[in-house]
Amino acid sequence: MIRRYRYGDPVRTDAIREQVPLTDGAPSPFRAERTEQGVRLSLKLARGEIVYGLGESARGINKRGWVYESWNTDDPHISEARSSLYGSHNFFLLSGERTFGVFVDCGERVVFDVGYSERDELTVTGENFDLWILEGGGEREIVSQFRRLIGQSYIPPRWAFGYGQSRWGYQSEEDVRAVADAYREAGLPLDMIYLDIDYMDGFRDFTIDASRFPDFAAFVKEMKARGIRLVPIIDAAVKAEEGYSVYDEGVARGYFCKDGQGEPFVVGVWPGDSVLPDVLNPAARAWFGSGYKMLLDCGIEGFWNDMNEPATFYGRKRLDETLEKISALRGGDPLNVYRETAGSVDALKNNGEDYASFYHETEEGRIRHDRVHNLYGYYMTRAAAEYFAEYAPDRRYLLFSRSSYIGMHRYGGIWTGDNASRWRHILLNLQMLPSLNMCGFLFVGADLGGFGENTTEDLLLRWLALGVFVPLMRNHSALGTREQECYRFGSREAFRGILRLRYALIPYLYSEYVKCALRGEMLFRPLAFDYPEDARARGVEDQLLFGGSLMIAPVYEQNASGRYVYLPERMKPVRLRDGRLAEEEPLEKGDHFLTVPPEEVVFFLREGCALPLAKPAENLESTDLSDLDWICFSDGAVSYELCEDDGESRSGVGSGMRTVLVKGVRT
Ligand code: GLC
Repeated sequence: MIRRYRYGDPVRTDAIREQVPLTDGAPSPFRAERTEQGVRLSLKLARGEIVYGLGESARGINKRGWVYESWNTDDPHISEARSSLYGSHNFFLLSGERTFGVFVDCGERVVFDVGYSERDELTVTGENFDLWILEGGGEREIVSQFRRLIGQSYIPPRWAFGYGQSRWGYQSEEDVRAVADAYREAGLPLDMIYLDIDYMDGFRDFTIDASRFPDFAAFVKEMKARGIRLVPIIDAAVKAEEGYSVYDEGVARGYFCKDGQGEPFVVGVWPGDSVLPDVLNPAARAWFGSGYKMLLDCGIEGFWNDMNEPATFYGRKRLDETLEKISALRGGDPLNVYRETAGSVDALKNNGEDYASFYHETEEGRIRHDRVHNLYGYYMTRAAAEYFAEYAPDRRYLLFSRSSYIGMHRYGGIWTGDNASRWRHILLNLQMLPSLNMCGFLFVGADLGGFGENTTEDLLLRWLALGVFVPLMRNHSALGTREQECYRFGSREAFRGILRLRYALIPYLYSEYVKCALRGEMLFRPLAFDYPEDARARGVEDQLLFGGSLMIAPVYEQNASGRYVYLPERMKPVRLRDGRLAEEEPLEKGDHFLTVPPEEVVFFLREGCALPLAKPAENLESTDLSDLDWICFSDGAVSYELCEDDGESRSGVGSGMRTVLVKGVRT
């Protein structure tokens, strides 16, 4: 059952695909009231009731005990103290004596206080939004209902499930070649090398620095012949510079966001003074999307969209005013000068007043940015996806974004932004997976090894041991941090084993992914979703069900010899050791300590289930998907639904479903 209520005058988001008439009256079980902060919905949380969801956000699988704010923010200091990250995904699910889903649909700021102010109270505060309440069935049914409402999740080409290496700082063809050579020489599988802003000419979108990439199309071809695809970054902001065709064209057509006086609003991003394409204006969106053509024409088949919260280092006007203010301080009390200066310089970044100072020309008219702030990354990514569909209608492209809102899950995936080489961030990566899946985002991943700060060999190994199961598997790091390509470390065999495991898992990962996308299901589920009657399972925060057959429980603490795992039923451990997968004796329901050195990976096969495995290979193209091995946990025959589509056409998605009957072995 679905109810929809309206508060204020929300701007259309295009998150929802189905028309549902508005409901009158009180939005039970919420109490709705008007406060100074806006419309406030509240309800009492029962003891033991779990709140799942909110997509990309800090803290655990159960969101109780913190306050979350939907306001897309570029801030690399990710920690449990944060309320806003790069994406806003306003769907949550209450689970306990009552089970229902809630979606707060709007592109402006919304605050979810989930037992922060009052431990047993949940409140939602916003100004203009549509409130959706979904009831009927258990957690999985409610999620599927929601997923039906928001439309089918993006399905990338199959090669996008390969392993990719990235780093901010690969400057030239030589740098990229060196990475490819080192991976191949070390016998480490690799499908993609990502290009960060370094490939551009002065950080200008849709340009290539010809001194460092003299024949880009030839280079793309050369790498592809070696089985490696290049995946360039595109930033949201466009350099404000006369003579740069993207800028000139956008200004001439009025396609950049404008200030109150009708002039393009100037902000600072990597290229310096820049302007923001008005991707909420359909004509401007189509125009920005067509910018990708020059890279597509060079043979590029995948992109990552960045800085699209949109991130602003400064608003140009505010920067000028701040400089004046600082110079006027000269000669004053030094401590005061320091405080005032530091404060006003800090306030330049992602400034809220700047976000309230420019406008979009939408189909609904002129709209101030802060009313649609959380939609910007979504619409930038939609610009790209809509253009790809024009460029090659039946082809799948790899596309993912840093900033997002529900609705964007139909157009691309996401990576979860600038994490750091910290152990806690492995756990955070795991905990976000089910909440992102609930909100439609299936093609997701975090920067493996950590983006900021210096990684260590054991951290990277442990993180990859989670990454092998996650659709977007990319090792990425920031300029100036310790280099973290897998070949830089001593445990060559261990890295090879883990990366090869990824390729062995592709038939399973891809099949489960496509099934979840087509059927509105979650690839990663909290244990309680499948074992609702199991009180212990309801409290597990560091294990997940992965597809229909597996459970994962990675080690995320430094120097831990292994970990406790809770099995909600009898399961069979499968262990990667010395480059080989071995089945272990089944373990009974309950708690078990498993010893897992950093060179090994352990996961669990559910009873009555099967796992297809490919023979390990050095990239996806050379992975033979027709010659599979199977691991089963059953006395009799088990059937498994394998997806064997062509992996690249849009029309072919799901056409290759085949049910395979596999013979179990008594264990
Ligand atoms: C942002 C991105 C990061 C990228 C960097 C330089 O911080 O999140 O992934 O490497 O910009 O482009």
